[in-house]
Amino acid sequence: MSIAEKFVAMEYGPAPEDSKDALAWLDHHQRRFGHFMHGAWVKPSAGAYFDTADPSTGEKLASVAQGSAADIDAAVKAARAALPKWQALTPHVRARYLYALARQVQKHSRRLAVLETMDNGKPIRESRDIDIPLVARHFYYHAGWAQLLLQEFPDYTACGVVGQIIPWNFPLLMLAWKIAPALATGNTVVLKPAEFTPLTALAFAEICHEIGLPAGVVNIVTGDGSTGEALVKHPDVDKIAFTGSTEVGRAIRSSTAQSHKRLSLELGGKSPFIVFEDADLDSAVEGLVDGIWLNQGQVCCAGSRLLMQESIVEPLIAKIRARMSTLRVGPPLDKAIDIGAIVARVQLDRIQRLVDQGVADGATCWQPPMEMPSRGLYFPPTLLSNVHPTSIVAQQEIFGPVLAAMTFRTPSEAVELANNTVYGLAACVWSESINVALDVSAQLKAGVVWVNCTNLFDASCGFGGYRESGYGREGGKEGLLEYLEPAWFKNATALPAAKPAPPEAPNDETESATPALDIDRTVKLYIGGKQARPDSGYSMEVRSNRGQLIGEVGLGNRKDIRNAVEAARKASGWARTAAHNRAQILYYMAENLSQRRREIEHRLAAAVGEPQATAEVSASIERIFSYAAWTDKFEGAVHNPPFRSIAIAMNEPMGTVGIICPREAPLLGFLSLLMPAIAAGNTAIVVPSETYPLITGDLYQLFDTSDLPGGVVNIVTGYASQLLKTLAEHDDVDAIWCFADEGSAFAAKSFSTGNLKQVFTNEGRVIDWFDVKQGEGRWFLQHATQVKNIWVPYGE
Ligand code: NAI
Repeated sequence: MSIAEKFVAMEYGPAPEDSKDALAWLDHHQRRFGHFMHGAWVKPSAGAYFDTADPSTGEKLASVAQGSAADIDAAVKAARAALPKWQALTPHVRARYLYALARQVQKHSRRLAVLETMDNGKPIRESRDIDIPLVARHFYYHAGWAQLLLQEFPDYTACGVVGQIIPWNFPLLMLAWKIAPALATGNTVVLKPAEFTPLTALAFAEICHEIGLPAGVVNIVTGDGSTGEALVKHPDVDKIAFTGSTEVGRAIRSSTAQSHKRLSLELGGKSPFIVFEDADLDSAVEGLVDGIWLNQGQVCCAGSRLLMQESIVEPLIAKIRARMSTLRVGPPLDKAIDIGAIVARVQLDRIQRLVDQGVADGATCWQPPMEMPSRGLYFPPTLLSNVHPTSIVAQQEIFGPVLAAMTFRTPSEAVELANNTVYGLAACVWSESINVALDVSAQLKAGVVWVNCTNLFDASCGFGGYRESGYGREGGKEGLLEYLEPAWFKNATALPAAKPAPPEAPNDETESATPALDIDRTVKLYIGGKQARPDSGYSMEVRSNRGQLIGEVGLGNRKDIRNAVEAARKASGWARTAAHNRAQILYYMAENLSQRRREIEHRLAAAVGEPQATAEVSASIERIFSYAAWTDKFEGAVHNPPFRSIAIAMNEPMGTVGIICPREAPLLGFLSLLMPAIAAGNTAIVVPSETYPLITGDLYQLFDTSDLPGGVVNIVTGYASQLLKTLAEHDDVDAIWCFADEGSAFAAKSFSTGNLKQVFTNEGRVIDWFDVKQGEGRWFLQHATQVKNIWVPYGE
């Protein structure tokens, strides 16, 4: 072709990145890697290795060790042994190690980018310009937090030894998201990279060695799912942090339920990409390129569901098709490539299978005419239109370069469609009207919302999901809390085990053996702002601390819990009530409790004795007052990431919270849990203490006289262990708070595995509800909320 012809055709020539240095590095290691533990390379105990290959060529890159349970055990021991010395260092010294890691990543940035591209198949443009710079930024940012730790988190301590399991889509970036906050907060780490992409984690291990990081602080064990499982199950691991599929996340949740391991999960997504008719369509199309074709669509927050306002379907689809036709699929080391290789054959097959199913469900499949590479694992950019919202391709994560398009008419329909999956990781909203965009953003169930932009990440902005996309945040101040615990809590002693509850329905003897009472007190349930008889028709006796019968309460059952959840859902407008107004109602409650303190004290005294009753009522008035104060002060933040954007971090309520109250302090315990929940805008179903459930009667009078809208608080009395199960299993309950013995904490975690509810428990430990440091404040409010980051760009 002559120069003139080339000028007319404007076709790209090949522009391959040089892989010499990365290959020399592999050769230097004889293309065979052991595990990295206690600061040295160690051969796998069982002598087993597996290959990692370049998905764009199929060529083997290296052999890596297959980690066994014994290898995991050795790594955990190394991390445990390193912990005291690591924690004894000053924050400044730890900060300098993190800073050195950031510097060293930058120094080796090109080698890391090339290795990443060869091992994963992602375009070099992305690994060079997105992944590796973000890795360095993450270590710099967290070097700063390490320095400020004592000033900003004075009463916290590290979790201890942390097990971290990461996926293959952003191998080194996910490592940075895990390791940087863990080290900054004084933890030591055992990390297992994904089996398809272990190489950059091993290069990072070498970097740890090069900067002189103390031995055992970072340990890397390679292997497959079974290695991950051994790490999850290891008894001496204090916390597990996982990123990967929802399926494995659920399995991990289930296998850690009977333990005190902390858990954070960053799971799948099916993120909506909403385009309104007033959007700048050309920008939206460019956003879509990043949204669904970045990293071949193998992105947990990929904008994989396109929701288009009906009036713009034709022009938008035409623009998308035109743009898709210009995307270049090919060898990822080529600097002019847009879409590289799919990580592994099994993933490629899965994408094809899901697309076929989508078409069988009625979708129309369109792929631009293009020449595909003759070898390697590639999938063309794909547009599925006419997708029904219930189709598998609208509901399941495809994790490939496949966009499923749907339409909507009104903003409220867009919100409904957007929220119509089990996930809640991210969302994009495109509209030139900032009012519409922010209004819609507030209604989306997603941890991150990008307004007129997409797939922006920064270490200062927390990232993580709602619902079955997992919980916990990575990045930002909230991300650090995932690796810290209140120091008093870590050292708290265990509560004695509670007595087992009788069988679900009491026998007739119990029912009829109610003697006449001195004071006839029968307290009903409280559902939707009204007193309600229990569905069972049974009552439960309540005895004083001397064993005398002092009253009866309704014996709640599953049906009552279901009614209470329905009432709580209907009251969800509470979340949108202005914080000032919520605060007023809480102040009013404190005032009303204060006015009725004598009678409440008197009745409570029968159960807990006079001194405790007096103290409980006084502390309760103060606690309500405190949370009234917090209501309009537990605010979010505005981040300033290094792009022309702001990210508005909002503390949003969880939704509906199920609360199991502690036995020890029937009034104060109840209010110490309920108040932060409703102060933050949640609705609640509360199971009061079995010691003195009669408190319900006093409380519903309090709520009724304080203008609390019906349904915000619902109270179901009965046996906590039985009601806990129904609450924890209920799909419309968003979080479970269980403050009882250890067995109950484990039960709360196990029963709620199904929809991955967030669980907040005392881990069966004693909490001194009278101590403000233990029984009140940010710790509770943090569990009552989840952070949503709304990114808004500025400038033309
Ligand atoms: P995966 O969830 O199986 O793998 C992620 C990590 O977990 C890997 O390191 C793996 O070795 C480890 N693992 C697997 N089973 C484990 C177990 N039982 N206990 C502990 N660790 C275990 O994901 P996979 O199979 O690689 O991909 C399957 C699908 O999952 C993808 O098609 C995609 O839909 C989704 N996925 C989502 C990711 C996200 O970031 N949201 C990342 C990777 C996959």
